[in-house]
Amino acid sequence: MNIELSHINCFYGKHQALNDVSLCYPLGETIVLLGQSGAGKSSLLKVFNLLEIPSSGEMTIADSHFDFSQKISESTIRSLRKNVGMVFQNYNLWPHLTVLENLIEAPCQVLKLSKQEASYKAMSILARLQIDEMAHRYPLHLSGGQQQRVAIARALMMEPKILLFDEPTAALDPAITSQVAEIINELSRTGITQIIVTHEVDFARKVASQVIYMEHGKIIEQGQLECFAHPKTEEFKAYLSH
Ligand SMILES: Nc1ncnc2c1ncn2[C@@H]1O[C@H](COP(=O)(O)OP(=O)(O)OP(=O)(O)O)[C@@H](O)[C@H]1O
Ligand SMILES: [Mg+2]
Repeated sequence: MNIELSHINCFYGKHQALNDVSLCYPLGETIVLLGQSGAGKSSLLKVFNLLEIPSSGEMTIADSHFDFSQKISESTIRSLRKNVGMVFQNYNLWPHLTVLENLIEAPCQVLKLSKQEASYKAMSILARLQIDEMAHRYPLHLSGGQQQRVAIARALMMEPKILLFDEPTAALDPAITSQVAEIINELSRTGITQIIVTHEVDFARKVASQVIYMEHGKIIEQGQLECFAHPKTEEFKAYLSH
């Protein structure tokens, strides 16, 4: 099943953050959202897990269909978020919980896993991301790159079909940025769909299978990886040349 948006409009008060956005992608892609500050990237990302509810348009995602001309219930939003995970820019880890406790919280509460089952699963995900030694530390005693991995691990605990990232490398140095690119590429081999907002074109080139370029709430260009080498629009060409 595809991820599809059709004619999405989104407002903050009078300001229109998304203007008639339509897109359609098969599952399993790694879609990168590029554009200048204020272009609407985060707003679009948040629509996918209904952190932002558009004022009009339709969305099909993770076996659910939404028509935003009608009211969306809280229970539908909650069930969508089980399938569409988000890794926040500032990680949003709970400072008073250890890494392991951060990971098992939602699976125990929402999926009703036992603490033992959840911990077992958490340790295997932490090992996969090479941070299992950090399981009993508190987030503030980790480096930024390690916190980013914990945030990714926590999202993976819910086994989402789709994983959203808002500027996953914003606060990281180049070596750690490459490691995040490797993690994203490894995840994409598992078939998960990833949608990633970034300002870093080099990083985008390493991870993207699909590229979306936005300006002023509109999609200006969409295409596969080769549009980095051969942009179709003057706008995207100018953005890449900065
Ligand atoms: N909660 C909000 N209330 C009012 N206006 C908002 C809100 N969130 C975003 N906006 C406005 O909507 C527009 C799009 O914002 P958005 O955060 O989606 O941009 P962005 O492309 O993610 O930018 P950046 O690269 O700086 O993160 C901007 O003009 C922004 O000021
Ligand atoms: Mg943003």
